[in-house]
Amino acid sequence: MATKEKRAVLGVTGGIAAYKAAELARLLVKKDISTIVVMTEHAKRFITPLTFQTLTGKPVFSDLFSQEHYDLNHISLAAHGEVIVVAPATANIIGKMAAGIADDLLSTVLLAARAPVILCPAMNDRMYAHPAVRNNIDILRNRGVQIVAPGYGELACNTAGTGRLAELDEIVEAVEGTWTDKDLAGERILVTAGPTREPFDPVRFITNYSSGKMGYALATMARRRGAEVILVSGPTALPVPRGVDFVGVESAVEMRDAVMSRLETVTVVIKAAAVADYRPASRAGDKIKKKRGPLTLELERNPDIIGEIGARKGKRVVVGFAMESENLLANAKAKLLAKNMDLIVANDLRQAGAGFQCDTNVVKILDLQGGVETVPLMDKLEIAARILDRVKALIDGRAG
Ligand code: CTP
Repeated sequence: MATKEKRAVLGVTGGIAAYKAAELARLLVKKDISTIVVMTEHAKRFITPLTFQTLTGKPVFSDLFSQEHYDLNHISLAAHGEVIVVAPATANIIGKMAAGIADDLLSTVLLAARAPVILCPAMNDRMYAHPAVRNNIDILRNRGVQIVAPGYGELACNTAGTGRLAELDEIVEAVEGTWTDKDLAGERILVTAGPTREPFDPVRFITNYSSGKMGYALATMARRRGAEVILVSGPTALPVPRGVDFVGVESAVEMRDAVMSRLETVTVVIKAAAVADYRPASRAGDKIKKKRGPLTLELERNPDIIGEIGARKGKRVVVGFAMESENLLANAKAKLLAKNMDLIVANDLRQAGAGFQCDTNVVKILDLQGGVETVPLMDKLEIAARILDRVKALIDGRAG
């Protein structure tokens, strides 16, 4: 299926973080976003246009009066971008935007643009804290400009403070969000993810192979679609998705407490976590030393979190997961009904490209009407979108 080309303008201004904009350009291009770079003269003191030209495969613009690419002037450049992202954005460009000054190509493009604008400020911490900059950022935010706030960290001037360009994945996520319908705005979605760890002494635990990828994809996509997201996660190696309220837990009991104490505040619960059904009946205070002969561990049942949610769910939409190695549909359907879920996402452990560690999944989504939607092999982020489509349909159905 031919998809429409996504188009962005990347504005680069003159701060030391300009070198990071090269990596940002590469990441955008990797996401199939056709990216045209517009640099200020000061930016060119930090990094050359050739770098961006090589990474984007497109000419780089900086001169307002250049005749070289007369087919792309400031107006058509502004029109090229379905989104304009300025990274790094100096105090200077922020001030010019706030005041409506257009004295070079980038500021002119920004004034002519009607596309969403994302500003990623990066500067010395004292400049960032200055009331003039704060005020300008407030003006722009009120005008609908999206600000990807800088982080705290080491700054080029040998100090630490707030002013460091936001992480690139956060900027890319903001850009990607441009093409996503915010159809879940107003919803509060709690997603659980990852494995749980059930300790039996201070250094050992029982766990499973869950990577957390499916749950993190759901949290990322729900956030991108405008929902407020709480991600309750067991230990994983994944970066926390931007913009979600993250609650890290270890054991099933901790996960149950984290979920149940927030249940009243949410409208949707998606339980992608691989919760250990059993935990060691006791936890030794000291490390268990080896002895001759076998060691027997007694296990006891963990709380069934989704079962508890199902019993108190009210009007919430509840989605569970089932990972099966046999009788996929029959087992999944039994869980859907027994635990009072609205949907269950079932995957077959034996199928290639499905399950715990993969970036892809192949699933069937079962509903209470007996419907079975087969979602073929695709990226977990796309699977997440399909699951959220079903959640959205249920929400709309209940409202209507
Ligand atoms: N789940 C849960 N609490 C548990 C175990 C599972 O909330 N203690 C949730 C999972 O997050 C998932 C769903 O229940 O959404 C199904 O998990 P699964 O382990 O496949 O189901 P079980 O009912 O535990 O069945 P079985 O282990 O017998 O297959």
